[in-house]
Amino acid sequence: MIDPAIWPLGTSADRRGHLRVGGVDLVGLADRLGTPLYVYDAATIREAHRRYLAAFAPMRPVRVSYAIKACALRGVASILARAGADASAASLGELLAAKRAGFLPARTQLHGNAKTDDELRAALRLGVGRIVIDGADEIDRLRVLVARRARPQPVWLRVSPGIAADTHPHLQTGTLDSKFGAPIAGGDALAQCRAIAATKNLSLVGIHAHLGTQLHEAERYRELGEALVALARDVTRATGVRLKEIGVGGGLAIPLRSDDPVLDLAAYARAISEPIRADETLGKAVLYLEPGRSLVGRAGVAVYRVIGTKRVTGVRTFVSVDGGMGDNIRPALYDATYTAALAGRAAAAPTEHVAIAGKYCESGDLLIRDVALPTPERGDVLAIPAAGAYSVAMASNYNHHPRPAVALIDDGRTKVIRKRETHADIWRLER
Ligand code: LLP
Repeated sequence: MIDPAIWPLGTSADRRGHLRVGGVDLVGLADRLGTPLYVYDAATIREAHRRYLAAFAPMRPVRVSYAIKACALRGVASILARAGADASAASLGELLAAKRAGFLPARTQLHGNAKTDDELRAALRLGVGRIVIDGADEIDRLRVLVARRARPQPVWLRVSPGIAADTHPHLQTGTLDSKFGAPIAGGDALAQCRAIAATKNLSLVGIHAHLGTQLHEAERYRELGEALVALARDVTRATGVRLKEIGVGGGLAIPLRSDDPVLDLAAYARAISEPIRADETLGKAVLYLEPGRSLVGRAGVAVYRVIGTKRVTGVRTFVSVDGGMGDNIRPALYDATYTAALAGRAAAAPTEHVAIAGKYCESGDLLIRDVALPTPERGDVLAIPAAGAYSVAMASNYNHHPRPAVALIDDGRTKVIRKRETHADIWRLER
């Protein structure tokens, strides 16, 4: 019943049939902390990071850089900082969040297709490790900002390999018709590498690409590795610069439901590393991985209270809960398909198919279109697994619903790492 692939490590049903995450009863937690509530299990995050290191151990040197956008809460991100990961930030805000969580700025990469001069200045002041340049315009602006520095700023160039990955169109980033990266095809990427190499105080140490997210196909990653190797060779030929770092982005899918396809981490590691390791000039380059979802997704469970049930005869049964698209926009935005369990009846067999409806005023606010459950009743606690990535991170106050509380379970102890928002919090900045 409890598929270990989609729930946090060691999730179980106790004698009363209550779901336990990290040893803690989710029904009790919902009673105590209220709902909607996100619960993260620290051990699952540590284990996901360990698995990355183990899978890539034969392919060193490698750095795991947490894409903090997946969940930037200090309580979550600091687990990865303590585990020795680097951080990858998509904005000044994320760079500051990473610093707050314990990542050294020098071990942080700053991405973004529209970094403002203020963001770039602040990043330089903070001593960010790598600025990942995205576009010729950014080279021009950086040239001015670094002109008077004593030491060169190490940078990567983000490139676009022209690879369409097997995911929702909103989640593809490696195609040519993308706002991200300089296309390799046609020579833009090479031309920008030349421009960087010719800029005083910018040190081109690497190239970077990110294919997209929630990807299942090893082959696409092999193509990415090959494309980056070919470009790196061209860069060396054209500029004399030997690249020391290759950033391959993140993107590894996690299963949201039991039957979802997964890409085995070892197969992913081979696909992305082999083309790079096989190249004599790049073989010793540090491979930078930027997982977000696959580090924190499985660790997070969304916990709701059932408000009521509406049976539309001959059509569908809607089970309404006290959260929805404001705390998890992913079903509405990407057709993400989750599953759920009743936390108080985790061992009971399913008796019917229902939809889980959110409380937001939108027809599209269905957390789940179809899930088989023991008939849910008002007051039941409903838990959605694999909800740790990009849910809280993209939460909004639509309909003026306060955003959920977030708890972390570590070593049997529960800590609230983000208080539940209040209505006053929502109004605070209005004048
Ligand atoms: N590196 C870069 C440059 C990225 O843009 C991203 C994600 C990652 C790494 C991490 O990818 P991951 O390992 O998490 O797949 N809101 C969407 C996800 C957007 C991801 C954007 N970039 C969602 O909910 O699925």
